[in-house]
Amino acid sequence: MFEQIEMAPADAILGLTDAFKKDPNPNKINLGVGIYKDGDGGTPTLESVRKAEKRIFELGGTKTYLPIPGSPAFGEAVRTLLFGETHPVIQSRRACTAHTPGGTGALRVASDFIRRCFGPVPVWVCNPTWANHAAIFEAAGLSLKTYPYYNAEAKNLDFTGMLNALERAETGEVILLHACCHNPSGVDLNPDQWREAASLIKRRGLLPLVDFAYQGFGDGLDEDAAGVRLLCESVDEVLVCTSYSKNFGLYRERCGALTLVAASEDRAERAFSHVEKAIRANYSNPPAHGGEIVTTVLNDPELQGLWRNEVTEMRNRINGMRVLLVDTLKDLGVTQDFSFIKQQRGMFSFSGLSREQVAALRDQYAIYIVGSGRINVAGITETNVLPLCRAIVDIL
Ligand code: LMR
Repeated sequence: MFEQIEMAPADAILGLTDAFKKDPNPNKINLGVGIYKDGDGGTPTLESVRKAEKRIFELGGTKTYLPIPGSPAFGEAVRTLLFGETHPVIQSRRACTAHTPGGTGALRVASDFIRRCFGPVPVWVCNPTWANHAAIFEAAGLSLKTYPYYNAEAKNLDFTGMLNALERAETGEVILLHACCHNPSGVDLNPDQWREAASLIKRRGLLPLVDFAYQGFGDGLDEDAAGVRLLCESVDEVLVCTSYSKNFGLYRERCGALTLVAASEDRAERAFSHVEKAIRANYSNPPAHGGEIVTTVLNDPELQGLWRNEVTEMRNRINGMRVLLVDTLKDLGVTQDFSFIKQQRGMFSFSGLSREQVAALRDQYAIYIVGSGRINVAGITETNVLPLCRAIVDIL
């Protein structure tokens, strides 16, 4: 039966890493997948994480199964980081959290939950969005609709286009929102726009599904959560998918969470019982190690302080690379205005390079960026910025 199967296309993002590894060019640069690199181009384990791992190791513990939604302590730590201690959602206990294998796992569980409880409803996704969103929603049996998000000419948010499209959404349809550091554009809603979007969502009876993978990489841990906190103040029902791949550097531990917010504690518990059913039929219960690290760091003031400083350091380095990239292009005589890259937030820059230019960078310079023109700014270093900019000048 298998002989008739054709090779599937390479993954738009992770496939680039495979191609990069195979490339023999000694000067190759990988700015594809969203992985943070330090000034030396490496991704060492965070110090706060290493200290937490040491404690976990010394405690011995157990390797028996976790409960279906993971440990309650993890859920509590996740919700506090997400909302802050005094948010009404925390006070009224109207949220439940499941520890999932990464943010991707959270999105898939959320989709399975939606399919299970509401049927094959459409998910409105922003244009553009993360290359994997459509595959996750469709794999769960949900259909897709798109709303405008990024104005490629003006290099900013098409908020009017977004609201106009969402006015056409039917009650009960799902709307995907990026909490911060929009992937791939780096363009976010400001607090007033979040308020306006929240009021539309409430009025139209839509279900917001928030992808929150980069908390701390935009303007700060609390600043980046401001939008989702505002949303949950005015909308009763929200699904939030968080990831600890980037801000804890736990990529391969696959540690994320799905937080379900409902109008009351009782409704949250009932709805969450179906999240548990979706998990049990998928991977049964989560892998423990990443969750133990996050819980240990967040529950210890000293480790949390150390971690907060490490997040700040990563954020500042990325923003510094944005400035360096723009300034280096200018120094090389580029007249095209790339200053918008300084305003974008998070790991990525939506460079505006065409698919042909992306292919030329790869074929002629062994520089790997995503076909949409998305550059992982967190992969730029003081060493690779000059060859990168020279190559960009050449293909412009
Ligand atoms: C990315 O967008 O590069 C990351 O979220 C990694 C991934 O899984 O695609």
